[in-house]
Amino acid sequence: MRSYTLIAPAKINLHLEIIGDRPDGYHELVMILQSIDLADEIHIEASDNQAISVRCPHPEVPLDKSNIAYKAAELMAAEFPDVFARYGGVKITINKRIPVAAGLAGGSTNAAAVLVGIDLLWKLGLTQSELEELGAQLGSDVPFCVAGGTAIATGRGEQLSVLPSLDNIYIVLGKYRSLAVSTPWAYKTYREQFGDSYLKDTSSLSARAAAIHSGPIVKAILNKDATEIAQKLHNDLERVVLPAYPQVLQLRQTFASAGVLGTMMSGSGPSIFAICESQQQAEKVKLQVRETLADQDLELFVARMTSHGIQVASSM
Ligand code: C5P
Repeated sequence: MRSYTLIAPAKINLHLEIIGDRPDGYHELVMILQSIDLADEIHIEASDNQAISVRCPHPEVPLDKSNIAYKAAELMAAEFPDVFARYGGVKITINKRIPVAAGLAGGSTNAAAVLVGIDLLWKLGLTQSELEELGAQLGSDVPFCVAGGTAIATGRGEQLSVLPSLDNIYIVLGKYRSLAVSTPWAYKTYREQFGDSYLKDTSSLSARAAAIHSGPIVKAILNKDATEIAQKLHNDLERVVLPAYPQVLQLRQTFASAGVLGTMMSGSGPSIFAICESQQQAEKVKLQVRETLADQDLELFVARMTSHGIQVASSM
């Protein structure tokens, strides 16, 4: 049976701004998303039993229909029923390296890998934009995860505008294993506390979304200026997550005192990343934070910004 192994990178948010409510209950966002080389490995193979199955040894990853990777396979089967019937079922194996429920799009990137993997397995020849459209039905970050790199994401997060890629910028990433932040909770709490400031009319929303293109963080990205990017990091969700999770605030403060270029929470958290001058500095900061906080529950990673999304590592 034919099989593919895919690399599915995590993402961080260099910018996350909540600008309004949407009629579908979601939020209008203005984000800058960045792929990093901390990645899961997804193995996809055809099986002859017309069933979808997910295997993953990580205790917090569900193996049933609640797993977004499972949902991605189900969506492909529903979209292409004849091909599904011809090729049989799909076995998905996830080698999890990205921390779970961390604001790093770990689930979304697995779903994107399943879409790309099944497209190859079933020889569908879907275009990138077709894969992104399918991805949008699964989650707001899935379309970005298909091609990855550096991009502005607006609307629900699914409208992408590609930026020149950043690589060779190193970050340190920290996440407490036992802490998980619910994304719906973070957005709901933000709406309760700050909903009054949301832009209400369509023209103000589009003007705000357009403004990011000429804003200072995009200028810094175009100049590939790590120092400037680090100073312009922004995440509105810090306003609700940090007060509710003192440990996360302390981790952010510890990074900030370690001499990094800049630090911020990613997505709805609770992971915190810090942009560093070099790989050597990132390794040093990782050791320093490990010593200062001395907590076995804290996972720390050094990662590099990368220009790619889902990639095929091997096929058989
Ligand atoms: O799209 P996704 O399933 O990843 O979103 C998770 C949750 O985050 C949604 O259920 C919603 O509560 C919140 N969200 C939002 N507005 C967005 C994206 C996500 O309110 N644009």
